[in-house]
Amino acid sequence: MIEQIEQVLQEALAAIDAADTPEALNAVRIQYLGKKGSIQALMTKMKDLPKEEKPAFGQKVNGLKTAVSEQLEARQAALKEAVQKTRMAAEAIDITLPGTKLEAGTTHPLIMIQQELESLFVGMGYKIAEGPEVEDDYYNFELANIPQDHPARDMQDTFYIDPRTLLRTHTTAMQMRELEKAKGGLPIKLICPGKVYRRDDDDATHSHQFMQCEGLVVGEHITLADLKGTLEYMANTMFGEGRKVRFRPSYFPFTEPSVEVDVSCPFCNGKGCSVCKGSGWIEILGAGMVHPHVLEMNGFDPEKCSGFAFGVGLERVAMLKYGIDDIRNFYMNDLRFLKMFDRFD
Ligand code: DAH
Repeated sequence: MIEQIEQVLQEALAAIDAADTPEALNAVRIQYLGKKGSIQALMTKMKDLPKEEKPAFGQKVNGLKTAVSEQLEARQAALKEAVQKTRMAAEAIDITLPGTKLEAGTTHPLIMIQQELESLFVGMGYKIAEGPEVEDDYYNFELANIPQDHPARDMQDTFYIDPRTLLRTHTTAMQMRELEKAKGGLPIKLICPGKVYRRDDDDATHSHQFMQCEGLVVGEHITLADLKGTLEYMANTMFGEGRKVRFRPSYFPFTEPSVEVDVSCPFCNGKGCSVCKGSGWIEILGAGMVHPHVLEMNGFDPEKCSGFAFGVGLERVAMLKYGIDDIRNFYMNDLRFLKMFDRFD
């Protein structure tokens, strides 16, 4: 019997040693210390022993029980530590690894030009107006002194939605909305930047969608000289100090007189180069004095007030400013192009 106790002890210690997971160890515990386990089985055998052998036997089995329990506990602690160590190793975070860079977008070059124009005109006390891109024929054409069948309608190929609704072909539509809204109240001083659309075939200098910024000032004694001074200031701010502005006679139905505005070439300072084709001047916008008939149609008395207006193409400004030779670059969403305007990289 005594040898049996020793044998169970050796077996139990070997089994505990061999158990390499908490589950395996628990199985060993049940096998030896459980109600139906080997140690309990030895205890039940005690009743078959002669009375004088019982105390010694009982003591031995208890010793066995304590030894096995202690060994189980030690092994359990060791296993727990091992499990924790493997987990720690698996979940380790290498704080020396470089992080993943978040790709942030950049401001689109046309929006940069828009924002520059906005801040320069707001600095001169202008308001910023916004309006619909899907526009009534009335504001885009009628109020701008371009009635049905007027030959000037052919100057702008229009996307019609229905016979009376269209995609605005110029921000001049907004000029008309603002004039009407003012109900004859003076002064008016605003710009209106926004998208416009024309049925053009896209090429290096044409795009069916582009951006304009309209300017409008109406008040008492507003003259062509005010327009020239304003545009000169704009040219100097947008293209650098020393720009000169020149007016050439032109025609727009909504202005009288109308002018085409050139700025002295920022690349050669007016001496003549390939960009300005040797002339020293580059055309940048259309402008003029608001036509008396337009003022009248919108409820202003042309005898008492006058105004100037202009419409500048933002792509044209951006192309000159940044030396871009194809307007389609603005609309292709090519990251190689857009990233060139990332000021933070
Ligand atoms: N609306 C004209 C265009 O799209 C540009 C323009 C010319 C606007 C003269 C004006 C202006 O306000 O006075 O070609």
